[in-house]
Amino acid sequence: MRALILAAGLGSRFRSEKAKVLHTIMNKPVIWYVYQTIKELNMQDIAIVVGHQAEEVRKIFEGEENLFFFYQKNPKGGTADALISAIDFWRDYQDYILVINGDAPLVKSQTIKNMQRYIHLVEEYENIKLSALILSSFLPDPTGYGRVVKDNQGNVIKIVEEKDASFEEKQIKEINGGVYLFYSPHLLSVIFSVKPSPASGELYLTEAINLMSQRGYIVRSFMAEEQAEVMGVNNRWELAIAENVIRLRILERLAKDGNTIHQPETVWIEPDVILEGNVEIEPGVAIMGNSRLGKGVRVGRGSIIQNSILEEGVVVEPYSIVRDSYVKSKAVVGPFAHIRNQSVIGEESHMGNFVEVKASHIGKRVNAKHLAYIGDANIGDRTNVGAGVVFANYDGKRKYQSYVGENVFIGSNSLIIAPIQLGNYSYIAGGSVINENIEEGALAISRAKLRILKDKGKEKLT
Ligand code: UD1
Ligand code: MG
Repeated sequence: MRALILAAGLGSRFRSEKAKVLHTIMNKPVIWYVYQTIKELNMQDIAIVVGHQAEEVRKIFEGEENLFFFYQKNPKGGTADALISAIDFWRDYQDYILVINGDAPLVKSQTIKNMQRYIHLVEEYENIKLSALILSSFLPDPTGYGRVVKDNQGNVIKIVEEKDASFEEKQIKEINGGVYLFYSPHLLSVIFSVKPSPASGELYLTEAINLMSQRGYIVRSFMAEEQAEVMGVNNRWELAIAENVIRLRILERLAKDGNTIHQPETVWIEPDVILEGNVEIEPGVAIMGNSRLGKGVRVGRGSIIQNSILEEGVVVEPYSIVRDSYVKSKAVVGPFAHIRNQSVIGEESHMGNFVEVKASHIGKRVNAKHLAYIGDANIGDRTNVGAGVVFANYDGKRKYQSYVGENVFIGSNSLIIAPIQLGNYSYIAGGSVINENIEEGALAISRAKLRILKDKGKEKLT
């Protein structure tokens, strides 16, 4: 089977510079979801009709195979005009073609499979060749959608668009979901006879369905399993609602795969994220991009994980951020930590309260539990970074690297000025400013001498 996605429209109800199908749901364009659904159906070929901001739409799919693009000159021409623009894709096709609105991100591939099966069943048991099957649903408030008008045998007579509907037709609650299976030769026989809508001047695809029915072709509607599936995203509030539906579907899948999601109404996990099982997600967490969380990972309340790998058993304590980084097994991050720019945190290390780690490689069992900045540093196994330690990696012009060996002790509030090397088992006394390399096993101390002046304090205070 072939599939055609209609995505040329302006989406004027979005009141946006950006084409409707480029707006995002969970950080992926609306049309990405439609394409994903179709890909799950193993279609032979997929085509997209583009028009408004065509180049931007094409860019989303760079590198995809068996995907074709057709250009609709007038993106206000209407949905039938979009089909005509792609006529080369389906004119000679002697089978059913799936046509789907680019603003229908909630349709499930299983539903489309069920539609395909229904066509076969009707053919086999009723001896009827369906010319079109339309995905529909009953909506309590059908405003804005095309209404499905049927005869008393249950066949579709026509679809009336909101703008053209009479008062009685507006009372119909069954609506057109914008997902169709057309028998191509029958569609071809009517498509050029579609006349512009008197209300909008557009060529409606739904008008083609009316013509089919007038010619005696049989058109039926197919009830969506879930009401939300037929929802079109026509303004930014519908976009927000669609995002919520997709967000909850992702969380439901992850939960059923054996991960615990607390307060799902507050959790944001994007489509490409992998949770490997027994992962525990506390409220208010966001996991974004290409992130993978190993078995038993726990992410504390309010944390953000983006494009990062957390190996088995990692704990992210509340209100921490991990971006573009790799945290190895059983390490602990946070609370209130920030790990970023390709940092690696070694096994069982602990980057604690108010610790920022940038572009650094941290070995195993390293502790930096309080108030530290570690930037452009390599830190060996079992080293201790005291409270308030700062790696001064920037001289106002350039960034420099620090190399810290294994089993090093860096006392609290020390300043390590890069470029620098601290040997294994070196010991930096608290409060030191270190701007020379320290050899293995040495103790370094640099502080002003302490003076104690008897009774002077009290004098100043009284
Ligand atoms: C359409 C249906 C309506 C249905 C609803 C379901 C028509 C005439 N009406 O209405 O019956 O209930 O979807 O959501 O089809 N597009 C083009 N070229 C155009 C116009 C639109 O490619 O000239 C694309 C849009 O980018 C969009 C899709 O077609 O992805 C649907 O267009 P839209 O304007 O959203 O149609 P609706 O008014 O929602
Ligand atoms: Mg729409």
